[in-house]
Amino acid sequence: MLSELENIRTEILTAIDSAQNAAALEEVRIQYFGRNGSLPRLLEGMKNLSKEERPAVGKLANEVKTSVTERFDTKKSLLDKPRRDYSAFDVTLPGRPRNLGAGHPITQTIERITSIFKRMGFALADGPDIEQEFFNFDALNTPADHPARNEQDTFFIDSQETPDGHGRFLLRSQTSPVQIRVMRGQKPPVRIIAPGACFRRDNPDATHALMFHQMEGLYVDENVSLADLKGTMELFFRELLGPDTKVRFRPHFFPFTEPSFEIDFSQPGKLIRGREWLEIAGCGMVNPNVFAQVGYDPDAATGFAFGMGVERIAMMLYGVSDIRHFTDNDVRFLAQF
Ligand code: DAH
Repeated sequence: MLSELENIRTEILTAIDSAQNAAALEEVRIQYFGRNGSLPRLLEGMKNLSKEERPAVGKLANEVKTSVTERFDTKKSLLDKPRRDYSAFDVTLPGRPRNLGAGHPITQTIERITSIFKRMGFALADGPDIEQEFFNFDALNTPADHPARNEQDTFFIDSQETPDGHGRFLLRSQTSPVQIRVMRGQKPPVRIIAPGACFRRDNPDATHALMFHQMEGLYVDENVSLADLKGTMELFFRELLGPDTKVRFRPHFFPFTEPSFEIDFSQPGKLIRGREWLEIAGCGMVNPNVFAQVGYDPDAATGFAFGMGVERIAMMLYGVSDIRHFTDNDVRFLAQF
């Protein structure tokens, strides 16, 4: 019996070692460990042993069971592991290029505009997207009956006035409230730009979106003149669009500046949407009423402000014909920038 046990151990271990795959190993299991397998059948024979023989045979039988089970389990876990077929793998092939991400075209445009103003000494400022009427309108010298304050034009979040006297909450319709927040927190001189999202209840089409971006600018100091405003704007647009760019100022109205202008630009020999001049920004000399609101001396403080639409500039820089492309989230569009 002892030698039979030794023999079957060798046999089983060899069988396990030579199994090439999971199916072959399963064959081994059935043949040796299964209900009619050779190992159980051999152990059956122990019943007929004499009392004297039993302890030695029993001990060896246990050793054999342990060693073959261990070897079987090890082999099984090895064969079950998924394996690559390296014979089909050409290590000399070039690697797969990874797609590198890039900034969104609106982000890139904001960065371009910002870097030009930074070189002129402007600092970055920002304010909340969820504003209050006071900052978005009243403090900017915009009267209660101004059409922009209509619920048809501005997204009001709640019809309740807040107890702080700053009116209802709304999604800011312009970045100009940042002017107020900055001036309330700081004495002149002030030289800031403030890029950010704005919201209006427009009918969305190729050139209008419910959410868009503006770049606000504010410069306050002693003796700031219209010449400073013109010089700054001209320099900026030439830096952004090229040295041949021409800029013109058309009188306009904004409640928070006086006088106010719209800025058009043109590039020699180029028609934009069939026209030579394209409107690109609003600007003006800060209205003394605004200075009074933020606690500046309206007789001493002078300054200019401007605001431009980022999407419009991006559309021009990159030749994008529809503003909706920017928010469609189509990778085929975004991957071009
Ligand atoms: N906030 C104005 C708008 O959304 C743009 C603007 C005009 C901003 C003149 C200014 C400014 O700072 O001085 O239409």
